[in-house]
Amino acid sequence: MTTPATRRAQKAPASSERADLEPTALYTAGVWAWARLACAELFDHAESRNVFGVVNFALSLAGIFRLRAPSLRHSLVQRHVMIDRLLDESGCAQILELAAGLSPRGARVSANPDVVYVEVDRSTLFERKRALLRRSEQGRVVLARPNLRFVAGDLTELELDSVAPPASGPLCVIAEGLCMYLDADSLQRLAAQVHALLRARGGSFLFDLVPAIEQPKSGLLGRALGWLMRIVTRGGAFVRDERKRNDIAAALRAVGFSSVDLYEPKSAPVGWQLPHLDRRTQQLVFAAHVALPALVLATPGVPQ
Ligand SMILES: C[S@@+](CC[C@H](N)C(=O)[O-])C[C@H]1O[C@@H](n2cnc3c(N)ncnc32)[C@H](O)[C@@H]1O
Repeated sequence: MTTPATRRAQKAPASSERADLEPTALYTAGVWAWARLACAELFDHAESRNVFGVVNFALSLAGIFRLRAPSLRHSLVQRHVMIDRLLDESGCAQILELAAGLSPRGARVSANPDVVYVEVDRSTLFERKRALLRRSEQGRVVLARPNLRFVAGDLTELELDSVAPPASGPLCVIAEGLCMYLDADSLQRLAAQVHALLRARGGSFLFDLVPAIEQPKSGLLGRALGWLMRIVTRGGAFVRDERKRNDIAAALRAVGFSSVDLYEPKSAPVGWQLPHLDRRTQQLVFAAHVALPALVLATPGVPQ
């Protein structure tokens, strides 16, 4: 028998589908503009500044009780720069950025016409992103680039192979600021999809994720902030579980990635010139790779 309660339950999407993480993209847009990252000025606007100000104020209150807590904005800038450096080092000219939000990376990197850059996020996010770009001459130039594409869709439903740049040459898939909202199964599913994309062409999957068990425990105010965040994002919350960094790396190898490297700000290569190394920060970036076997060139007459 179908009761009203079961009908409601059948209609209700899973919590990850219900959550609206767009407000979190406003905060990071505020961070990128505050840090004066190249092209961040294109997405700088009153709403992102307000969210940036309010969240920092709330965090500074929380900081009164947790003096040794890492600084969120400095940690985020380091994460963004670490992913930039890994992208550079990958040498990939084809890039698929998942949950790109108001990140300026696509605008920056697609200035190179040899690069093909595809961003994926929700349609409302891209409406805002396009409107922000239309405000300036430089933004309109970015919007007109044929090598930068915004694909609106829900990552829980999209087939990644239908949106990735066409299969030629290695691909770099980036997911910045997304995986902390995914439980182990969802991350495994995403990693398997990304691996399937890279299997034939090689490339890397770059994402950030500080395991919950490595993070400082939230005090009363921290829990209140989490509660506020769930209200603003309609259910979006960091997944809190027992996964260790080695468990996450093992899960990536289990879906087929040939190697997995982990990077933290303090031990990152000196040549990366990460900013804010004098600040208390916390970040962990995973770089999972698919290397293609070297081509075996057949010599006529010589058995292989
Ligand atoms: C914390 S923001 C990060 C944005 C950007 N990567 C950055 O670092 O500035 C998270 C982003 O994930 C996007 N997002 C979350 N769930 C999504 C989903 N299921 N499908 C598409 N985008 C999603 C949100 O719209 C938001 O832009």
